[in-house]
Amino acid sequence: MIQISTDLFKAKKILEKECLVAIPTETVYGLAGNIYSDKAIKNIFKTKNRPYHNPLIVHIHSLEILPKIVKEVPEKAKKLAEVFWPGSLTLVLKKSDSVPSIISAGKETVAVRIPNHPLTLELLKNLDFPLAAPSANPFGSISPTTSEHVVHYFKDQLEMVLEGGACSNGIESTIIGFENDEVILYRLGSISKEEIESVIGPIKIINKNDSSPNAPGMLSKHYAPKTKIILSDNINEDVNKYTGKKIGLLLFNEFTPLAVNNKLIIEKLSTIGDLKEASANLYAAMHRLDNKSLDLIIAEKFPDLELGKSINDRLERATKE
Ligand code: TXA
Ligand code: MG
Repeated sequence: MIQISTDLFKAKKILEKECLVAIPTETVYGLAGNIYSDKAIKNIFKTKNRPYHNPLIVHIHSLEILPKIVKEVPEKAKKLAEVFWPGSLTLVLKKSDSVPSIISAGKETVAVRIPNHPLTLELLKNLDFPLAAPSANPFGSISPTTSEHVVHYFKDQLEMVLEGGACSNGIESTIIGFENDEVILYRLGSISKEEIESVIGPIKIINKNDSSPNAPGMLSKHYAPKTKIILSDNINEDVNKYTGKKIGLLLFNEFTPLAVNNKLIIEKLSTIGDLKEASANLYAAMHRLDNKSLDLIIAEKFPDLELGKSINDRLERATKE
C-alpha cells in the first residue's frame, strides 16, 4: 500500500534500495529514482509505460553537482542557471560519460535542473546520487500537481509519495537547449519565453512539426484527460453546438451562458485574470473535470503571451486526436 508521508528518512531509505518515490517539485510531482541504478530507471519507464526513446530529466540540489552530469556549460546556460535555479528551468547540455545512456535515451545530451521545493532539495542533499524524475503520471495523461493525483494513478505500484502540498507553479519546467550557438526552446513551461529572453536575448522555439523531435513531449497527444476535450475561441458558440450534453468548461475569462440546454460545470482558472494563477490551477482543474463523467470539456484559448503560451501548448496537446 502506498504511503503519503513527509518523512525524508523513509524516502531516502526507499531510494537507496533502488526503489521509486514520488517527489514534490514546484512544477509537478515527479516519479524519482537513482540515476545510477539500472533497476530504478527501468522501473520508472515501466511504471509510467513510457517509451525508452523519451529521455529523463536529472534533478540535482546544487550547481556543484553539475560537472558530474554534464561536460560543458555554455555562457548563456550559466546565465540562465544563475537567474532561474533553483527553479522551473531545465537545461539540455552535453552529457558526461558517467550518466547512464538509458537516462538520455542514447543521446549525447542530458536534461538537468535544480527544482525549487524545500523538501525535495533537502532529500537531494541527503542522497549520494541525483534523481531522475519524469512527471508522476502514466505516459500521455495529465501531470500530477498534488499527492492525491499521484495516488490516484499509482496506488498499487509505488511505496511512497513524499507529501509536499500542491505544486506552486503547476505546469512543467521550461526546457532549453543549445545547438550550434543557437538557443532552442524545446518545451514551453512554467518560465515564460519572454522571461528567458529578458536574460539572454532572442531564442528559437523548436518546430512542433519537426519529425525528428528532440523533446518528444512537443509532438504527440499529451497532458490529456480521458474525457474528450476541445479548445475554443468562442465558448458560447461551442457550448450551443452540444445541446443536451454535460459539459465541463475550463475558463480564463468571465463567462455568461447564453444557453440553458446544457449542464455546465465550470472551472475558472483565475479570479483576477492572472496567467500565473491560471497555470498553477490548470492540471488540478483538468483532473477534477475528468472525474465528473462529462460528455465533453471545452477549454478556453488563452491569450498568446507569457504563460498563456505555455497553457495553450498544454491544451493543444491535450486536444490532439
Ligand atoms: O517540471 C518538470 O520538468 C517535471 C518535474 C518532475 O521536474 N519533469 C518532467 O519530466 O516534466 P518529463 O519526463 O515528463 O518530461 C521531460 C521532457 C520530455 O519531453 C523529454 O523529451 C525532454 O524532457 N528531454 C529530456 N532529455 C532531453 C534531451 N536530452 N534533449 C531534449 N529533450 C529532452
Ligand atoms: Mg511528463
